[in-house]
Amino acid sequence: MKPVPQTNLGGLALFKRGKVRDVYGLGDSLLFVATDRISVYDVVLPTPIPGKGAILNQLSNFWFGKTGNIVANHVLESDFGKFPEKLRGFPELQGRSVIVRKAEMLPVECVVRGYLTGSGWGDYKRTGEVCGIRLPAGLQESQKLPEPIFTPATKAETGHDENISFARSAEMVGEETASKLRGLSISIYKFAEGYAREKGIIIADTKFEFGLLDGKIVLADEVLTPDSSRFWPASSYAVGRGQDSFDKQFVRDYAVSTGWDKTPPGPELPPYVVEQTRQKYEEAFEKLTGRRMEFK
Ligand SMILES: Nc1ncnc2c1ncn2[C@@H]1O[C@H](COP(=O)(O)OP(=O)(O)OP(=O)(O)O)[C@@H](O)[C@H]1O
Ligand SMILES: [Mg+2]
Repeated sequence: MKPVPQTNLGGLALFKRGKVRDVYGLGDSLLFVATDRISVYDVVLPTPIPGKGAILNQLSNFWFGKTGNIVANHVLESDFGKFPEKLRGFPELQGRSVIVRKAEMLPVECVVRGYLTGSGWGDYKRTGEVCGIRLPAGLQESQKLPEPIFTPATKAETGHDENISFARSAEMVGEETASKLRGLSISIYKFAEGYAREKGIIIADTKFEFGLLDGKIVLADEVLTPDSSRFWPASSYAVGRGQDSFDKQFVRDYAVSTGWDKTPPGPELPPYVVEQTRQKYEEAFEKLTGRRMEFK
């Protein structure tokens, strides 16, 4: 499979090139293309993962469908066959793109944590709190929290997300909107965590992005993918230690093992890391959706 690290769609205006997505303007709507780029520690690596963009796109679409009864979302058209003719002239878009409504994105990254891991585990060991939220004493690494917690973040100048308090998020978007974001994020997470658990995957934590459309909150961006979440295989889960994962952890570990200092440029990935990462993403997709991943 040929990787798609970047798209160049002649005649279309690039609205934004993110770390992973190429977004094109279509008037009131956007063409949202997931490329095969991979970023770790907010640095895009020089080596793409072939097919990753298609997996992310189709997994997000799956979750948009499943969560539509909880919150409206930005998707207008996910069927490439129904795209406008001028877009169907770009076969590289097939499987990896959606047409979405252009939203006014809210500057709060809505992180939900259901298990104690990563930086949260580090915080908890030192302070008994995660992002300012006090937790019961005596929890172990990777343990499920009594209730999922909302720990918002914001995109800082450096490109790294910075944790903020709920009060700060309320200053940024207003008290009412911040409360709604928290409620929606926890509801979506709880639903998805329960769903995924039955399919053999633990969603340890995740990040949602919401936007405003005609003053109403909509779920946007990507949803519950291995890029935006920590996915653990339920079969090997045990508290008191770190977990295997279906997500970018494998790539992070490799990148750090090369002695890389987490500043650009990132290291090239060897073929075995590319292949295992693709397999992990594909396995997560297939377990969650119950479908074979089709790359067209
Ligand atoms: N419906 C939407 N309307 C407008 N912008 C959107 C919408 N959905 C997502 N976005 C934005 O599109 C971009 C998606 O690109 P990508 O995920 O590659 O970016 P990123 O690298 O995660 O973030 P950024 O480049 O903003 O730091 C993000 O900036 C996201 O906030
Ligand atoms: Mg993103």
